[in-house]
Parts: sequence; structure tokens; C-alpha cells
Amino acid sequence: MSDTEVSSENRGQWSSRWGFILAAAGGAVGLGNIWKFPYITGENGGGYFVLMYLIFILLIGLPIMVAEVLVGRTAQKSPVGAFRSLSKKGSPWILSGWLGVLTGFIILSYYSVVAGWAMHYTWFSITQGFTGMEADAIGKAFGTLYADTSTNVFWHLIFMLLTIGVILGGIQRGVERAARILMPVLLLMLLVLLGLAISSDGFGRALDFVFKPDFSKVTGAGVLEALGHSFFTLSLGMGAMITYGSYLKKKEDLVAASGMITILDTVIALVACMVLFPITFSFGLEPAAGPGLVFVNLPIAFSQLAGGVFWSTLFFALLVLAALTSAISLLEVVVSTFIDEFKMSRPVATLLCGGAIALFGLPSALSGSEDSFFGNGFKDHSAFLFDAETGKNWFDTFDHLASNWLLPIGGLLIALFVSWRVSDRAREEGFKNGSRFMRWYWHWLITLRYVVPIGVLSVILHKIGLI
Ligand code: PHE
Repeated sequence: MSDTEVSSENRGQWSSRWGFILAAAGGAVGLGNIWKFPYITGENGGGYFVLMYLIFILLIGLPIMVAEVLVGRTAQKSPVGAFRSLSKKGSPWILSGWLGVLTGFIILSYYSVVAGWAMHYTWFSITQGFTGMEADAIGKAFGTLYADTSTNVFWHLIFMLLTIGVILGGIQRGVERAARILMPVLLLMLLVLLGLAISSDGFGRALDFVFKPDFSKVTGAGVLEALGHSFFTLSLGMGAMITYGSYLKKKEDLVAASGMITILDTVIALVACMVLFPITFSFGLEPAAGPGLVFVNLPIAFSQLAGGVFWSTLFFALLVLAALTSAISLLEVVVSTFIDEFKMSRPVATLLCGGAIALFGLPSALSGSEDSFFGNGFKDHSAFLFDAETGKNWFDTFDHLASNWLLPIGGLLIALFVSWRVSDRAREEGFKNGSRFMRWYWHWLITLRYVVPIGVLSVILHKIGLI
């Protein structure tokens, strides 16, 4: 399909199934895979956490991915409009559409700050490089960046401008073109780094750490985190995949496409771990280093490597690219909702929503500073949200809220909506249209109806101490 050809509602469409898969996978693969997954795996003790995450991806994530793409494609609308058109006018279900918009808004606001760190590191790699720096100095450099409010604000705003720029280009030209170029580059870069990691002496220990479950490490908080992350990493529970699905043609096999996106995303997350942990163990570093894991342990490795400047530039540029395609999909949810609901033009909606998110992200950019109200100060105000004496800073509070609570709740709602509320005919048609996986229809439906709600609710109820 050409750039100018559009569907009945003047929405753009993906030029092919692969255009859709690459764009959606580009949205799914991001900081979640490369920054967050390794660091929370490290914090939660490795193997057991990874196993939980894989189970959640397969039993909960994949069925919900199919459900979201199906809703988007059937309704040909962004989340709020999709919920409205598949239920009755004035039905409370549209609130779950708005919940998704709110979640996307919150996630992008702090996501952009981490993307900013990656931009700063790319810039640092190009202009100075880590070569010859002591491990201590590299650790301190991240601490300094983390606390440096003006640098964080600067890069956060630059990254938001970049994201806004891509969205202004429109769905077809902007998102698809970006994803088509960036996805294969990203994969290639990771594989090169993996080759490097395989030949390091920490590889065996890393394999054990990531793939050998240690059941003494199980905690309720860890299970909730694995569940929340399976939503976060697949971009589920907030309408991103509904929005992407709305640009997918009716005759495409959405089950196969969802499977492809899930596999790509999961493989990349595991590869990221297998790049990071061998290096961590080879250099005797700490796997549970927290959000700084990628930003401290890798540069330490790069500093001692021949061609370290090249490797670190490559890696952090890759991280920025991955973050950008995800940020695009987060902003697209909010913007396309404003276009559809308030009849705004794309430029106005993009500038308005992007600007508001950039503003809302400022406290996250200030969160690393000890003296800022949003840093240490906020911990006193958020303690009640966590069952601990101290709370978290603004950034961590909103990350926790959005990924561990809002996304699973949003995902639960979409599963209930599709399996109980959407008409049998629309659901069955949506699933089977062009699909090679027709005979899985009942398995999928039963999973959505019972397995997903029971799974998500029991993790949540367990976490709040009710079961
Ligand atoms: N999946 C993205 C990542 O892993 C983050 C994201 C979450 C994007 C939700 C869109 C919606 O980085």
C-alpha cells in the first residue's frame, strides 16, 4: 500500500505485515529489555525471576497481545474509541481506554529520563570515552550524572523533542520508516556484543545465574515485579498494541504477528542479559547493582577493552535507538487518542501531549538529587505506598506504580473485555481472519477468560496480603 492510500477513517495503514511486526516489535523492544530487565533480574537473584517472567510472557502476555491487536484492528480506532465502538455508547469500559492513556503518559515521562542517560553516555563515549578510567571513577560518574539535575533535565528535554519530531511525521512515514531502519541495526549490534560476551570467562556463571532457578529467592514483590515487567516489556496493558493493531489490515494473520513480536522481544531481553552478566561476572562486579547496572558495569568492561570507545558508542547509541522506537509508541497512544476524541489535528495534539509529558517528566529528572523535593524528600511522602519504612523517589514511585500496578490492571481489563464483552462473532472473526492458528481459538479464549484473570488477580492479592 502506498503512503497516500488510507483506510475508511483516514487512518494510515502498515505497508505490509512485516511493516507492522517491525514497528510493533520496535515499540516493544526498548529500555525495558536492555536497561530494566537485566537490572531487575540482578536485583531479584536471577534464574527464578527469569523463569516467572517467561511463564508470564507465555501464559498471560501473548494471549493479551493477541487480544489488544484484535481490538485495535476490529475497531480501527485508538484505545478509548476502540472500547467505545466494541461496547455500548456511554459504557464504563471506555475508562479502561483512558486508564491506558494515563499509563502511557506516566511511563513516557520517566522513560525519557533514562533515555536521556543513554544519550549522555553516547555523547560521553564519543567525546571522551571510558578508556583508561578506573572502575571507581566510572561508578562515581554514574552517581554524579544521576544526581545532576541540569544535565538530566537537558537530555530529557532533548529526547522528548526527538520523540515529538518523529510523531509529527505521521504514522506511516514516521513510525514505520524509523522502525524499519532501526530494528535490524539494533539486533545486529546486540549479536556482535553477544559474541564478545561468549568468549569472556564469566559466561558460564552468567548462564547459571540467568537460567538456573533458585527457589530460595522467591518473594511476593519479585513475582509482582516479574508480572509487571512482562506487561512493560511487551508494551501491554495501556493500549499501545491496540493503537498499532488499528493500523493493521483485516486480512493479516494477527496471531502469527503477535507471536513474532513476543518472540523477538523475549529473545532480545535474554540476549541483553547474556551480554551484561558475563561481563559483570568476568570483572567481579555486582549483579544486583540496581538501575546503574548497564551504566556502570558495561563501561567498566569497555574501559579495559581494545576498541572500547567504539564499543561503548555502539552500545549506548543502540540503547537510544531502542528507547526512541518505544517512546514513539507511548506518545502515539496519547496523541492518536487526542486526535480521535477531540478532533485535534496531529501537529496540535502532538505538541500539546508531548509538551505536557515533558513537563510531567521534570520531577523524574530531578529525582536523583539528594536535595530535591522529588528525590529524597519524596521518599517520606510515598512511604505509605510501599510496605516499608521509607518510600521511593518520584521517578521510582511512578515506575513502580505504572509498571507493577497500572499495566497489569489495564491488561486484566482488556482480557476481561475481549473474552466476556466483545461479541462472539467479532471476536472469532478477528482471531480467525487470515490466521493459520484458527484451531487455537478456544485455547486462547479460555486462557483469556480464566487463566489471565486468576493469574493476575492472585499475584496482586498475594502482594497486598489478602491471600
Ligand atoms: N516495551 C517498552 C520497553 O520495553 C516500554 C513500553 C511500555 C512501551 C508500554 C510502550 C508501552 O522498553
